[in-house]
Amino acid sequence: MDLPSASETSTTNISGLKKIKIEAELELYNSVNELPVTFQNLMFKAQEARNKAYAPYSHFKVGAAILLDNGEIVMGNNQENAAFPSGLCAERVAVFQAGAAFPEVPMVALAISAGSIKKVNKTPIPPCGACRQSLAEYEVKQGSSITILFMGEQGQVVKAAAVKDLLPLIFDRSYLK
Ligand code: THU
Repeated sequence: MDLPSASETSTTNISGLKKIKIEAELELYNSVNELPVTFQNLMFKAQEARNKAYAPYSHFKVGAAILLDNGEIVMGNNQENAAFPSGLCAERVAVFQAGAAFPEVPMVALAISAGSIKKVNKTPIPPCGACRQSLAEYEVKQGSSITILFMGEQGQVVKAAAVKDLLPLIFDRSYLK
């Protein structure tokens, strides 16, 4: 299986110390309007999901929308809990729902929009580490990359061609053999 990923180059310097350099190339769009129409519509779904987030404690709302290979769009948003660690991020609500409802259908892209209800957030907000790990599981499972698009409430959008570009050196099933 050959997934596009953050590239790795290794060098050996004069003292024999080996170093690995990991690089990823991300695309930056000035606004959602610059995205291809399919991704624009996906981001609008993420924004719709964000507005329905249940975030009474952090007041930070996140929406996610996953485009599946069969054209279905699965949405999720963060769900908080009075016992704080029992809540879940938007990305994992969405990816687990997609995995549960459409186990055989590859995921093509995930759009994320995040913002605080205290101020309008114009900075792209990337998925947390735990969500990246959860997303990587499905990228490995399906053997094809999942495009990740993320933004704040308004403004710039970042696009990564694959989860692996956001999480190099993932822990995956190969280590369990
Ligand atoms: N949150 C997400 O939904 N996704 C992330 O990637 C980071 C954080 C949520 C969890 C919590 O409900 C709130 O944002 C504040 O951390």
